[in-house]
Amino acid sequence: MIKISPSVLSGDFANLERDIQTIAQSGADYVHVDVMDGVFVPNITIGIPVVGALSRVSPLPLDVHLMIQAPLRYVEAFCQAGANVLTVHVEADTAENTRKALMRIRQLGAIPGLSLKPATPVRDILPFLDLCGLVLVMAVEPGFGGQKFLGEVMPKLAEIAAILRRHNPQCLLEVDGGVNLDTFQTCLDNGATVLVAGSAFFQSADRGAFVRTLRGGAATGLPRRT
Ligand code: DX5
Ligand code: ZN
Repeated sequence: MIKISPSVLSGDFANLERDIQTIAQSGADYVHVDVMDGVFVPNITIGIPVVGALSRVSPLPLDVHLMIQAPLRYVEAFCQAGANVLTVHVEADTAENTRKALMRIRQLGAIPGLSLKPATPVRDILPFLDLCGLVLVMAVEPGFGGQKFLGEVMPKLAEIAAILRRHNPQCLLEVDGGVNLDTFQTCLDNGATVLVAGSAFFQSADRGAFVRTLRGGAATGLPRRT
């Protein structure tokens, strides 16, 4: 079944506990937490203590997306803070450190995720796929919510989906950035199994219907925006 991971990046940072409950009540599967360091991306958001606080109040598993340079330094701290899925970027460190980070995340009991930016080729993640429990395909440049979906990433998503079906069929395949009622279906058609939605989720008048629509595909729920 398709899983939905609303991002608290588009929530109200003065009311994160309320927004976590909103996400849980919508019937979503995960809470997506965007961690940015001002180095890997030109923005700074949430850090380890806030992930710990969210973990204490969240009924749903935390899907933590690290957009930070040299993430190996912090994977242990984020796992201890309560990350259930912990995703690092392939562009953020050496191959050796990326491999170490993914192995360490699994040892610590979380699902290891690997993400790639829109311009990063599939070949860059191939050496690590056997270590991944999730691959996160960015459909916007990481750094900010509310950006336009880059449809040109879809062939890459389909290529990764085909590789995973052959070599690591248990691995989740997540799309992040610009996912909304107009763009989710192409993500599903190209093999996504987890959809992140930030601004479209929080702007939705009926978040339960939004989640059901994304999970069910075109046949159910809300009409597309025109
Ligand atoms: C962008 C983040 C995304 C973002 C998604 O760097 O990784 O998770 O919050 O937000 P929307 O759905 O608004 O593009
Ligand atoms: Zn994200």
